[in-house]
Amino acid sequence: MLRKSWLKVVVWLLCLAPFAWLAGRAAVVFGLIQPEALGGFFNHGQVIANPLEYITHFTGDWTIRFLVFTLAVTPLRKLLRLPDLIRFRRMFGLFAFFYGSCHFLTWLWLDKLFDLGEMLKDVGKRPFITAGFAALVLMLPLAVTSTAGWIRRLGGKRWRALHRLVYLSAIAGVVHYYWLVKADIRLPVFYGALVAVLLLYRAVVWTIAEYGRRATPVKPRTAPLRPERANQP
Ligand code: HEM
Repeated sequence: MLRKSWLKVVVWLLCLAPFAWLAGRAAVVFGLIQPEALGGFFNHGQVIANPLEYITHFTGDWTIRFLVFTLAVTPLRKLLRLPDLIRFRRMFGLFAFFYGSCHFLTWLWLDKLFDLGEMLKDVGKRPFITAGFAALVLMLPLAVTSTAGWIRRLGGKRWRALHRLVYLSAIAGVVHYYWLVKADIRLPVFYGALVAVLLLYRAVVWTIAEYGRRATPVKPRTAPLRPERANQP
């Protein structure tokens, strides 16, 4: 089932659904579309008190969710013995970057109107923005090198090492979220716990593998590597 190509299309559409929902609401709120044109589906969109805040929070939430989905693929495929889940990891990672970019653009364009002075003032006033920015910048090389061509060019080992940056990105994302909330820390703590469990799983698997590797005695060589040196002391 997980190997079906239509399933990939369905999952892709599901990943895009939050964006479609947001675009529909935004189009109604900003008066680009009459609610009737969408069958009245987004009528309630009119009551959004602060559209800018709504878009920022919506895109920020989906960025952190997709980061968690991406990190969850490896543990789930191993624990549930579903190796084909790997087919969705790159998609989730790219959607995390997509929603992160929408989130950043909301700040850059709708909030700061590309005004560098205003941006710097905001970064000085709200230092959590720097943590968010770090999380997004860390995702950039991962998005660029997510293709098969880049895996070939870098080689599996180097590619895997580079893609471990996603761990730092997720940590920076959680720090950003925790830092920005004023009173109710329940959601950032929830995401922090999820990221911690997913990273801990990897640390445990790595430690067990490393311990096993060291505990396995290296087989003594039975034949010399090069025949011409066989009789040398
Ligand atoms: C991986 C990157 C990022 C993640 C995971 C992330 C996540 C989040 C989350 C979860 C929220 C809170 C949403 C809510 O309360 O429902 C948020 C809010 C926010 N983020 Fe980000 N963010 C990221 C990058 C950025 C960047 C690059 C910027 C700007 C340069 C930024 C600026 C903001 C702002 C201004 C808020 C609203 C703060 C407020 O309520 O006062 N974020 N972000």
